[in-house]
Amino acid sequence: MEIVLVRGDITEQQVDAVVNAANSSLLGGGGVDGAIHRKGGPQILAACRDLRAGHYGKGLPTGRAVATTAGRLPARWVVHTVGPVHSRSEDRSELLASCHRESLRVAAELGARSVAFPAISTGVYRWPVEDAARIAVQTVREAGASGCSVEEVRFVLFDAPAYEAFAAQAV
Ligand code: APR
Repeated sequence: MEIVLVRGDITEQQVDAVVNAANSSLLGGGGVDGAIHRKGGPQILAACRDLRAGHYGKGLPTGRAVATTAGRLPARWVVHTVGPVHSRSEDRSELLASCHRESLRVAAELGARSVAFPAISTGVYRWPVEDAARIAVQTVREAGASGCSVEEVRFVLFDAPAYEAFAAQAV
């Protein structure tokens, strides 16, 4: 499995699956979530509403992942995952690791060979980006060592601090 770092917009990535930093409602939001729905178009929200009407009636739990169409995005699928909100009193690292592990599992099950991740939880959910980068890169490396069939994982970083934080981990 190859890990690639890209400075840019995740909605423009030519990969099989794009991971969305969603919330448990699956009904959209700001940041990555807003960009994916805005650029991907209404088909994504319609698919998310179907999920809410079916298996995910109570919403998607933190740390879990589920796929929908990517609508008008250059990708084939969006894998929605809900990152943990950072807490100083509770260590939620395992939930952030689970977002990456579960997103890769769902993408691999679909036959995706390339997957783009944003820096999950480091925006609205206030996770320190250095620590998020450590967890993200370590979890993806572990998945690769465990035989995950995804060939390329691309971390798409929106700003220089995030890019530097991931570059420090990916060496
Ligand atoms: N491409 C790549 N990265 C992006 C983009 C984009 N188009 N837009 C924002 N980012 C970066 C942010 O700079 C941040 O580093 O993605 C990272 C994650 O930020 P958020 O999108 O705020 O995600 P998160 O912190 O996981 O919070 C999720 O925010 O948008 C709402 O509905 C969402 O409630 C959920 C919460």
